[in-house]
Parts: sequence; C-alpha cells; structure tokens
Amino acid sequence: MSNSSSPKPMTSHSGNPLNGTIKVPGDKSISHRSLMFGALAVGRTTITGLLESEDVIGTANAMNAVGAHCMRHEDGTWTVDGVGLGSLLEPEAPIDFGNAGTGCRLCMGIFAAHPISVTMVGDASLSRRPMGRVLNPLREMGVQVVARTGDRLPASIRGCETPLPITYRVPMASAQVKSAVLLAGLNTPGTTTVIEPVATRDHTEKMLIGFGADLKVEINEAGERVISLQGQPKLNAQDITVPADPSSAAFPIVAALITPGSDVTVEGVLLNEHRIGLITTLIEMGADIEITNKRDTGGEMLGDVRARHSALKGIVVPADRAPSMIDEYPVLAIAAAFAEGDTVMLGLEELRVKESDRLAAVARGLEANNIPCVEGEDTLTVTGKAANIGGGTVITHLDHRIAMAFLVLGLAADKPVSVDDASPIATSFPVFADLLTQMGGRFSKGSEIAA
Ligand code: S3P
Repeated sequence: MSNSSSPKPMTSHSGNPLNGTIKVPGDKSISHRSLMFGALAVGRTTITGLLESEDVIGTANAMNAVGAHCMRHEDGTWTVDGVGLGSLLEPEAPIDFGNAGTGCRLCMGIFAAHPISVTMVGDASLSRRPMGRVLNPLREMGVQVVARTGDRLPASIRGCETPLPITYRVPMASAQVKSAVLLAGLNTPGTTTVIEPVATRDHTEKMLIGFGADLKVEINEAGERVISLQGQPKLNAQDITVPADPSSAAFPIVAALITPGSDVTVEGVLLNEHRIGLITTLIEMGADIEITNKRDTGGEMLGDVRARHSALKGIVVPADRAPSMIDEYPVLAIAAAFAEGDTVMLGLEELRVKESDRLAAVARGLEANNIPCVEGEDTLTVTGKAANIGGGTVITHLDHRIAMAFLVLGLAADKPVSVDDASPIATSFPVFADLLTQMGGRFSKGSEIAA
C-alpha cells in the first residue's frame, strides 16, 4: 500500500461557476474508529457510509490482519465481525498503514494492550512523522518498542499481557495521542485517565460510550478535560451510519465562496463542535453560508451547508480555534487569497507534523501562485486580492489536503494551477475531482505550466 506509484500531476482551470447539491463521503475519523471498535467488539458491527479511501481501507486490512473480519457488501455497507477485546491475533506480516497517521497511531494504542508483536510500516510521508508522541505514553504502560531513530516508522511493538493503567496529560493538541492512550486503556485493568488541556475532536470518547465502555468526561478546576476509562469492558457490536466529512466538505464550500456565480449545498455534514472551526471562521470573514435541516443522528449534529460566492474580508483566526479546524488551514489559506486585506492564522505548530510540513507546503504553494504570504514559526499571514494569481505548480509532498486546496485555487484564479501529484487525494476524498466536475469545475490531467 505504501505509495510507490508514479506521481499524477493535475491542473484546475477557472471560468465556470459551481452549482448543485452534493454529498461528500463519510467522515475519515469516524470511519477508522468504526472499523477498529467493531473489531474489538463481540458480534457483527454494520457500517453505512464508510469512507472508502486508501487510509480507511488500510485500517480494514489492519483489523483483518489481527483476526477481525471486515467485509464490504454489494449494497455498499460494511460489516465487521469482531474478535472481542483481548483476543487479537499476532499478524503474520508487517502491517502497512500507507499515508494514514490516524490508522497507524490509533492501532499502536490497540496493539499495545494485547500480548502480540506487530511491525508497522508506512509510506515516505508517514515514515517522516513523529511517533514518539504515542509510543512514549505506551512505554509507560509497559509496551516494548523497537523503532527507527527519532521514533519514526518502521516500528515494531511488543504489546503487554497486563498493561499498567496511567494518568496521562497530553502535551500537544492531538486527538490521535489522546485516542491511542484510551485505546490502550481499554484492555488495561483499572482506570486509565487522559487529561486534555486543549479539547480536540471527541469521536473516540463518544463512540466508545456507544460501544458500551464505561468512560466519563469531566472538566477540572483548570478547565481541562479529564477522561477516565474503566478497563476491560465488554464492547458490543453497533449499527453505525457515518456522517459526511466536514474536512472534505471544506473544499467544495471554499470553492463556491471564491468562484463568481457559485451556489453549492453539501448535504448531511457532520457539525460536531470540535470540527466546525472553518465554518465559524468563514462566516466571520463574511461568507454567505447557511446551515439548514440540522438534525441529531446517532449523538452527532448534522446539517446541510449552503455556500454562495461571497465578498470575503481578512480576519485574525485565534490560536485556540486551531484544534477544531486543524485539517482545514490549507483551504482556508486559499479563501484568504480572495479576501480583502490580511488573514492572520495563529497557533499552527501542529501543521508542521501533518502528512507534510503543511505550513511550509502552503506558503510555498501560495508563493508559486503569486499570492503574498508570510510564514512564521507557527503562524501564517495571507494577503488577499493580489493581481494575476495562479500559474504555478505546487509540490504536494504526498499530502492530500495540499493537493485539493491548490486545485480549488485554480478554479477561481486568474491562471490555471497545477499540482505535481494528485494521487494522495485517494487517501481521503477519492471522488473530489468527480464531484467538483459535476458542479462545473474544470480539471485536466497533467501539468500545463511550463517549469
Ligand atoms: C484525527 C486527528 C487529527 C487530524 C487527523 C485525524 C483523528 O490529528 O489532523 O486528520 O481522527 O483523531 P491530531 O490528533 O494529530 O491533531
């Protein structure tokens, strides 16, 4: 699975408004967790609307490698026949997580509390990303790790027969780290506690409660989230409907806002409070965004999001909003290129350790397309409404969100925009170009920009 295929350049072109009502695929975070928790449950979990992307299929393969049975049915639903907590089997071969940080890091937590040895590998992007943030708390629980220098993949872990419950304060805003410790805590006797000074997406907590775990969330005097999990519950199989991914919806929404004459509705988007920072920000920038048909489904709020071409203005995006829009900064930078004045984004340190150094990748992409910006250590300032933008080729560094953000730029820029490799888009949003084309967007294969 590790990305060794040849790069696929792609170019986007302006000229057409985007119009229509679309559905984007299922949420990536919830899709990964549905397969993992289904594998740890007793009985058959049924999943409707699973995101069928490379990252998520990698998780299905990983769960099958440790004894579960994840299967796609003809009607598009998936079932997972779980092995039950504590009963994972040792895989016969290394597990390849491809580009998927969430798949890899959450599985490290799961494997840590089973007496099995697992070797984990990934593509060039995943092999550059820090794993110590997950491996260190797991070491405190008793896991043995052999990893490349700097705790990078490939890594082999030997999980524990009887892990120690720990209290762990997460040192960075990371739902993946929080989740890895909680998932190790699942098969650990006693109470595992995770303290989260900065709240991050809460899908692990909500879904584990849904599967029958005894998990409580309290806010302490310092305003931190304190999550306590009682180990070794019986997890029961569930029927799950995965809502549309707000991080994928972000691309058609921004495309509509910046492309004259556009009016786009994305249906059934997950509106979890920890995921809607981009919508809040765009509305502050003056975006014409309307949310209708709000409904509570399976404990999550969903809604239809309508976005129309808008006159945007630059704002300061506060650092404390970063966790609720952490994957959306590349496309926010594109919206900012069309806003009057400066957009200042603060608190971006986590962007440095995503699928690429996203802060640098965005800044280089903006510069290549004549859009003024200033890259700070953990900040980005974009000056909007520059003349004659576009015409550049963007290096995507195996990062799907860099590829999609800059292809959105080309739909509204003065000149076409090329990306050197659109193939990573398949990790999260394989139908991206098809859906945008269906609404009027223009894409062509290859790079049309002279080097
Ligand atoms: C995710 C958490 C976030 C996010 C990633 C998905 C998750 O990463 O960037 O795309 O599903 O838990 P961090 O928790 O590392 O910030």
